[in-house]
Amino acid sequence: MSQEPKVIYLKDYQVPSYLIEATELRFELFEQETRVSAELRGRRNPECKSQAPELVLFGHEEVELLSLKIDGRTLAESEYQQQAETLTLSSLPEQFVLHSETRIHPESNTALEGLYKSDGMFCTQCEAEGFRRITFFPDRPDVMSVYRTTIEADRDNYPVLLSNGNLVASGEAENGRHWVTWEDPFPKPSYLFALVAGDLQYIEDSYTTLSGRDVRLLIYAEEKDLDKLDYAMQSLKKAMQWDEEVYGREYDLDIYMIVAVDFFNMGAMENKGLNIFNTSCVLANPKTTTDAAFQRVEGVVAHEYFHNWSGNRVTCRDWFQLSLKEGFTVFRDAEFSADMNSRTVKRVEDVGVMRTAQFAEDAGPMAHPIRPDSFIEISNFYTLTIYEKGAEVVRMVHTLLGPELFRKGSDLYFERHDGQAVTTEDFIQAMEDASGRDLSQFRAWYHQAGTPQLEVSDQFDPESGEYQLTVRQSCPPTPGQEKKTAFHIPLAIGLIDPSGAELPLAEGQGTQVLNLTETEQVFCFTGLSQKPVPSLLRGFSAPVKLSYPYTRDELMFLMAHDSDGFCRWDAAQKLAVDIMQELIAAYKPDQTMQLDERLITAYRAVLEAEGLDQAMVSKVLSLPSEAYLSELAEVVDVDAIHQVRNFVRRTLAAALETLLLQRYQETDIAEEYSPEADAIARRSLKNLCLSYLISLEKEEYLELAKAQYAKADNMTDMQAALSLVVHSVFAADAEAMLADFYERWSGESLVVNLWLSIQASDPKPGALQRVEALMQHPAFDAKNPNKLRSVISVFCAQNPVNFHAADGSGYRFLAQQIIQLNKQNPQIASRMLTPLTRWKKFPQQRQKLMIEALESVRDCGELSKDVFEVISKSLA
Ligand code: TRP
Ligand code: ZN
Repeated sequence: MSQEPKVIYLKDYQVPSYLIEATELRFELFEQETRVSAELRGRRNPECKSQAPELVLFGHEEVELLSLKIDGRTLAESEYQQQAETLTLSSLPEQFVLHSETRIHPESNTALEGLYKSDGMFCTQCEAEGFRRITFFPDRPDVMSVYRTTIEADRDNYPVLLSNGNLVASGEAENGRHWVTWEDPFPKPSYLFALVAGDLQYIEDSYTTLSGRDVRLLIYAEEKDLDKLDYAMQSLKKAMQWDEEVYGREYDLDIYMIVAVDFFNMGAMENKGLNIFNTSCVLANPKTTTDAAFQRVEGVVAHEYFHNWSGNRVTCRDWFQLSLKEGFTVFRDAEFSADMNSRTVKRVEDVGVMRTAQFAEDAGPMAHPIRPDSFIEISNFYTLTIYEKGAEVVRMVHTLLGPELFRKGSDLYFERHDGQAVTTEDFIQAMEDASGRDLSQFRAWYHQAGTPQLEVSDQFDPESGEYQLTVRQSCPPTPGQEKKTAFHIPLAIGLIDPSGAELPLAEGQGTQVLNLTETEQVFCFTGLSQKPVPSLLRGFSAPVKLSYPYTRDELMFLMAHDSDGFCRWDAAQKLAVDIMQELIAAYKPDQTMQLDERLITAYRAVLEAEGLDQAMVSKVLSLPSEAYLSELAEVVDVDAIHQVRNFVRRTLAAALETLLLQRYQETDIAEEYSPEADAIARRSLKNLCLSYLISLEKEEYLELAKAQYAKADNMTDMQAALSLVVHSVFAADAEAMLADFYERWSGESLVVNLWLSIQASDPKPGALQRVEALMQHPAFDAKNPNKLRSVISVFCAQNPVNFHAADGSGYRFLAQQIIQLNKQNPQIASRMLTPLTRWKKFPQQRQKLMIEALESVRDCGELSKDVFEVISKSLA
């Protein structure tokens, strides 16, 4: 940046001065350049009141303007203003046809925004502002246009040519080239445009919609991956059916295409009728894909499909409204996954992400409300806050309204705003209008950042039988927001009497939703004979931090008796956290530690219990992660956290060895692989038992892991065994297994990513040197985001003791990588910076080193907007 990048404010929003009703694009793809011709049919926007409106077309330095015509007349350079990234036209007629010819270079586009090449095929990524890297256009989501797209390319290298909508014409051209024309009848914002050209194969299926229309479903990939597409296809059909059943929404085009690409900045993209997916979110096959990845495929396929209504048919007015589509769509895909698998497990996993990563974001320098007021680079706002907290906010609306009124609200929203570009306010208004509920105070969730804290205390009067719950809410300051007003918070609770029975609350239900609206509120319950144990924040009914002075015995009581699955798991977590925090606070190297027997007792009870859901057993027995313990700490002591967690795991394993082995053997059954929830639960419990056992450092458990590795017919068991051995003390065996694994899977890029991640997350000393060596390995490709994530991001986020090495080597390493990536791929560079932005959480010496690393990036020369924004906010 030669000047400081500009801040964009929501308050400056103005309606577009011109509308573009139709857009006709022609692409000529060559190896050394691509020619784009664009014909825009425009007219004055009647809603724009300006006397002398200008038409601003956004472009990019990489887009070379060759010619510009209005209504067939070539414009002289004096007739328009070209600035760095805009082209401004004035004195336009009421209606016009604007025609531009441009040249771009997808073959050298490493940012992976706009049109670029992934492994020899052309593909696009236009959200949020990538379309302007393809051609000059009013690239903003409230300008919606119908598109007709012609693609011409070499027939042999690019037999498949795809764009949005329906194929309407095709033919041969000279010099071994061919062309096709696609037409998308639905007006859409430019960010939903897509183009793909390559040597692709596909699988095909069909789906008959509720109203009886047949839709062709096609999933494209490179030939070698054709055997990994069936699960995505099944997931797509399930998602289509679910959206009909639960939201009454059906698909609208006659064809739905998904394309898998290797080079992709994010997970996937919902382009109208032509989704483009990171291979990691669409390819699945038991031999090469872990359970976690199977579930990711199901969830992401559904997410992108659901966008067809929440995002495409009803889209965002401007990028401040991003959570309108992302929060709502994440809520929809979470409910879909809960319906397809285990509801409680899905909830426990999502809450884990909220509490470890989103709460950390909300407490850091990039904290923002789910509807931000300003940004420098919108790509920086595809965050856990917009997505996950946004989904929690929609979930709270669902909780407050109940399922029927929520559905009435979503029906009204989709009907009222079909074909429009709208705001989060329009969403809430529809929910209010349909339900008759007052959501005025609830709206604070949209414009206040930070995680609210609830402090709960209670009192029981045995004389009167009255039980009182007092709830105080507060919210810490966040950048630009010192003071907050009280939130409207749905707090779901239950009360459990000392015998373990749940007390009937309002309307005889075991769970009651309390409406918190004040900074302090008292809730009274009458007719109790004994003091109950409160079960609080059932189902994680709001994205808040809640404290209540539970004793360890009360937590064990809740683990055994709470009827709410989430709260049972949460009680186990709280017990482990409480015990571990005490050890962490007292930690001194080489000093022996003592584990509170109650954790052993509690875990033993869970291991011994008959008939417990295996998925829940494995969740309950999973110790809180180092990342979660760090998020909870005032000042993070990475070494103490790591040592304590290892100590607790080893101590539990020693005390429960027989039971763990027994459970391992019970769950280690030969069966055909299935990605269904109960089979996943079984493998998860089995591998959890193995992880405890191997921490005992006994040869026999090493042999057990090696045997599991050798006989595994699925990647879940294979990678679990490999990872446990690699992270263990058995170095020689680890080496041999890593070599074997690589030899077997070097042809499978996604499996190689597992191999890289396992090594990058190995907590043993010397990790940085190992990471640097991996980056020299032929399997590594510094231009491929999946490789960068597998090595660099995993090292920085999942190897805390090494990343936070006291000498600052981990920080300097990351800074160097960011400096490299800043030019090559700003979106990835900026995302990878996250660990350094959290410097305030660490002890002074580490803080100093982290700041120095940030400053070295700041001073490295020209920063992309993406990196500039994160660096400057982190150092502010
Ligand atoms: N809309 C996409 C989704 O959540 C997100 C996305 C895909 C994206 N690729 C991107 C966002 C590139 C910014 C940049 O489904
Ligand atoms: Zn999305």
